[in-house]
Amino acid sequence: MELVVIEKRLIAQDTVAVTLGAATGVLQVASPGAHITISLGELVRHYSLTRGFLAGEPYEIQVLRVAEGRGGSRWIHDRLSVGDRLHAIGVSNDFPLVPSSAPAVFIAGGIGITPFLSMASEVAQSSRALEIHHLVRHLARQVPLPQALLPHLHTYAGAIPDFARLLSKLDPASHIYVCGPVPMMSALRVQAQRLGFPSGHFHAETFGVALAADDPTLEVHLALSGTHFLATPGQPLLDALLAQGAWVGEECRRGQCGSCLVEVLEGEPIHRDALDPALRPGALCACVSWARGPKLVLKL
Ligand code: FES
Repeated sequence: MELVVIEKRLIAQDTVAVTLGAATGVLQVASPGAHITISLGELVRHYSLTRGFLAGEPYEIQVLRVAEGRGGSRWIHDRLSVGDRLHAIGVSNDFPLVPSSAPAVFIAGGIGITPFLSMASEVAQSSRALEIHHLVRHLARQVPLPQALLPHLHTYAGAIPDFARLLSKLDPASHIYVCGPVPMMSALRVQAQRLGFPSGHFHAETFGVALAADDPTLEVHLALSGTHFLATPGQPLLDALLAQGAWVGEECRRGQCGSCLVEVLEGEPIHRDALDPALRPGALCACVSWARGPKLVLKL
């Protein structure tokens, strides 16, 4: 799908909204929570859609410039201009609203609010109870929310709320949607489990690969093929495995779908996916996760 940049504007500190129209034909109508996968030169990135849910409406993405990131946000901020064309690989939705009449609670870290602009707007049009909790480093970085969402918004600027307390006040039937950094998502998942929320009521989306500066180099051994190699931080483990000819699935590349799960025979994984840990016992998502090292033995 070929897109053209219709508008690019600053909407909060270090954050732009980019409006995208169809270069030819018409845009597929998206559902709340959907994301678009686009090519940015050599890079492929996923961004939640904040518009594009009505026939004839252009798409919009909101992008925070992450100076120390992997380059996608810098590309959009520094190189993308009105009139430029972009190739979109597709629009899909790994983070849909679960049909329910129970309260919907959205908890976002920073720019992780973007999928919730559409999802919470959908809930706000129904009779469901709605809460939005937004953690931001600085208020200046908070993107504007639709007017209809403001009565439901709780903002935490520069402070992390007590997650146990926050969750303990919720209706136990609530569906909890979380989008943000992996540590925030993991902490919330632990508290939700502790408080007895059913695992099917906890829904999470991550930002994608979360690299850590102190990730160690790994000696990776593939037990079935007898291959071994060094995996250096900075490159997803999935890419290193594919380069070795290993048979590993790949789909979302951001820890959402589980296609790239590989069984760990030895080593201590550092999980950075959004999957329910109960669904990946003894395995790691090669697209986003890493290990403490030095040795990682995989059943491949
Ligand atoms: S490719 Fe989807 S979780 Fe790794």
